[in-house]
Amino acid sequence: MGAKQSSQDDAGRENLDALKEEIERLRKALSEEEEERKKTTREEDKKTSKTTSAPIQVDDRELEKRLLLQTQSDGEVDSASFASQHEVDPKRIVGIIKSLAASNVVVFSETDKNTLNLTEEAMSFIENGSPEARAFDFVKSKGKNGVSLPEFKKLEKTISEVGFKQAMQQKWLAMDKATNSVVAKVEEITDTCRTYLRMIKEGKKEEVPAKELDALIKKRKLAKVETWKEYAVKRGPEFALERKKLEHDLTKEMLANGAWKTATFKEYTLVPGAGNIPASGHVHPLLKVRRAFREIFLQLGFSEMPTNNFVESGFWNFDTLIQPQQHPARDAHDTFFMKTPAKANFAPEEYVEKVKKMHEVGGHGSVGHNYAWKREEADKNILRTHTTAVSARMLHKLAEDGFKPCKLFSIDRVFRNEAVDRTHLAEFHQVEGVVCDKGLTLGDLIGVIRQFFAQLGMTQVRFKPAFNPYTEPSMEIFAFHPMLGKWVEVGNSGMFRPEMLLPMGLPEDVSVIAWGLSLERPTMIMFGIDNIRDLFGSKMQLQSVKNNQLCPLGLEK
Ligand code: PHE
Repeated sequence: MGAKQSSQDDAGRENLDALKEEIERLRKALSEEEEERKKTTREEDKKTSKTTSAPIQVDDRELEKRLLLQTQSDGEVDSASFASQHEVDPKRIVGIIKSLAASNVVVFSETDKNTLNLTEEAMSFIENGSPEARAFDFVKSKGKNGVSLPEFKKLEKTISEVGFKQAMQQKWLAMDKATNSVVAKVEEITDTCRTYLRMIKEGKKEEVPAKELDALIKKRKLAKVETWKEYAVKRGPEFALERKKLEHDLTKEMLANGAWKTATFKEYTLVPGAGNIPASGHVHPLLKVRRAFREIFLQLGFSEMPTNNFVESGFWNFDTLIQPQQHPARDAHDTFFMKTPAKANFAPEEYVEKVKKMHEVGGHGSVGHNYAWKREEADKNILRTHTTAVSARMLHKLAEDGFKPCKLFSIDRVFRNEAVDRTHLAEFHQVEGVVCDKGLTLGDLIGVIRQFFAQLGMTQVRFKPAFNPYTEPSMEIFAFHPMLGKWVEVGNSGMFRPEMLLPMGLPEDVSVIAWGLSLERPTMIMFGIDNIRDLFGSKMQLQSVKNNQLCPLGLEK
């Protein structure tokens, strides 16, 4: 058997060698052909395109121009043939078409396309026969006894594995267990795999039986489906050979020089539903909390102070509160100054004189601040830094009108030149309470504050000595926050100094207790907002206004 076997081997090897040579020859021929093709297209490119020398491609603007020209002359342009005509990636053409369509220069309709691409392997099957056919041919050439398995395994893998498996399935080959060899089971075969692949290559895939086609694509992965869209382009309502430059914004210059009359503006891309009238309005969380605070003050018998002046003079904001003019809070780092009108101070001159005297030399037992008070500082217009400016105006009016005990409150906006961060903005709201009566003491202040905060649901309140230029004694207010599980600062308070009250003309035995807090802080805590920019300003989401809960203040108990 040995001699016979080896001669068969030799024949097989010769066969294989011949195959390999053939493959090599084909490969060479193919690559030469490819080279030749590239050369000629380069030369053609040189002839047809003046703008570029191949292989560098034409730019999008040039392509756009050519597309528009062709649309004008042909009436309809097909994206795929246009792309191949200009030897550019069809995706670029699609991009240009869509952008032209967005400006209504063209309109297009799209069609889904697909093709079946053969793999390199499939191409080699077409060339050399399918591996199963080659496996069969080989075994068949060895005669009746076939080929021993170890010998067969020595063939190239495509034949010995893929080909063997397929040929076994087709029942072309079989294993002879007794001799452990691969033997041919049939006399003749037709290489259907190769035939079908050829049909696909020739564009006759419809003629391949569906089941076989499916197996070639899915099981054997010899062909791949490629899908894409093709666009048929026609002239649009704004058709022109050159696209008009679209303006994005209406500028001051365009208004001044009249360019707006002829400019073409880009259309807005609005989200669906933009401009719809909302189903209903919604109350902003700050307003919900403000309303609750108001209600509490009103229930406690307080009346609201008129806070309708954001612009205030330094006089009412600081000087009446006997806050010295060189106090750091009064410089531009903390306070916003008005440019025009930079000055205004509507205060009775004799009162201004009294305030000046208190600053410079004191009186009523006080030594004052002992410096040269300047009228111009007092007259400067600023954005009020606290609502205590309004309280000062009201107390002065109370003295002028003739003292009566009173309880006042305000809730309104104040401004400070602060670095903006997640808990600070340059403007916020203050809540302020003022009680004015004869013989009030620190005990009254503590009692009123306890009552006030109890209404808010904060029953555990603590006080800490503090300093304010215009109150003595002064206390910071802390409340225990059950949700946060800690003591948080909720406000500031004190008894207005006699240096502030006496120049106003209030009787000597009148004391004024007062406290203030921000509206934002409790609102953020109550609504679980941890960045103030989510509560106030341009970044606030309307949706969050719509969705937020009722203000819990005043609803408990
Ligand atoms: N005006 C103080 C502030 O801006 C608050 C305050 C008001 C303090 C009344 C004492 C009395 O923080």
